[in-house]
Amino acid sequence: MEKKVVFSGVQPSGSLTIGNYIGAIKNWVSLQDEYECYYCIVDLHSITVPQEPKNLRKNTLELLAVYLACGLDPEKCTLFIQSHVSAHAELSWVLSTMSYMGQLSRMTQYKEKSQRVGENVNAGLFTYPVLMAADILLYQADLVPVGEDQKQHLELARDLAERFNNRYSPTFKVPEPLIKKEGARIMSLQNPQKKMSKSDDNENGYILILDKPEDIRRKVKRAVTDSIGVVRYSDEQPGIKNLIEIYSAFSKDSIEDIEKRYEGIGYGKFKEDLAEVVIEGLRPIQEKFDSYMKNKDYLESVYKQGAEKARYISNKTLRKVYRKIGFIVN
Ligand code: TYM
Repeated sequence: MEKKVVFSGVQPSGSLTIGNYIGAIKNWVSLQDEYECYYCIVDLHSITVPQEPKNLRKNTLELLAVYLACGLDPEKCTLFIQSHVSAHAELSWVLSTMSYMGQLSRMTQYKEKSQRVGENVNAGLFTYPVLMAADILLYQADLVPVGEDQKQHLELARDLAERFNNRYSPTFKVPEPLIKKEGARIMSLQNPQKKMSKSDDNENGYILILDKPEDIRRKVKRAVTDSIGVVRYSDEQPGIKNLIEIYSAFSKDSIEDIEKRYEGIGYGKFKEDLAEVVIEGLRPIQEKFDSYMKNKDYLESVYKQGAEKARYISNKTLRKVYRKIGFIVN
């Protein structure tokens, strides 16, 4: 039986938070043995916000090193850079002619980002989810492992696949989101009503994958909790609930075990332990990251090999699409 296909990606727009790790990359690693996985560095997406060219180059390479350091194995999955595969931009154009302005303008991420940018909202920010749909549909992905915030974009990808299939004939697999029950929405340490994000103005709100131990200790110590004083996984205690999810993700202990362990013990000790659990969880990733970054030739060989495979697979879909639309395919 053919393996099911998995596709996902992260933007190379700066350092990654533990939200990106817990919500996405950590789950990708566990899928690579069983599925045919494509993990992309979505640089085309990242330029919807102005990027300094020098930084974009650096962030792209660093993100590949993070992928590898987290345990993605290029022998098992395809790791590549989006701009190396021109089919993404090409299919995105086709799909944009089938996307409704109304649906795109209802995208939460677009509404939030355009508010932040102010008056001059670029068209790329608006059509961003169409490019994301193209990413996924090109590989005939069955499953897309993402955090909760991408669910709406996934709906669009499904709608576009169905619309195309209905208008022409079955062409695209209709993908399913793979969103874990726990860890799909890691919240800001400073405001547990808000998603943890690297674009947060307050750096105490997020922990970066590459943060130093002393920074992690400080940020966890300052994390907002409540006055209830019980380590319990409950919606009434969103701050503590979030910290328990982080603890569980890094320690692999169940939520119930964590609650039991801290029965009758205050937040101070819980936070101290949590900081160490995160530091120890990130340590091997940080060490491997440093060694991959020292080996640029290897990184180059990984993304080149990934692009070759991705080009081959995505072109098969794109040619099919072009033929069905009525383009003369040469
Ligand atoms: P991006 O780069 O913003 O985030 C990458 C992944 O991290 C997840 N994530 C979180 N999960 C839990 N808690 C958080 N606080 C948190 N913050 C981020 C995101 O849900 C995502 O899975 N549009 C996408 C990138 C993309 C993509 C794709 C993803 C482009 N094409 C195709 C899947 C398939 C994005 O901006 O992710």
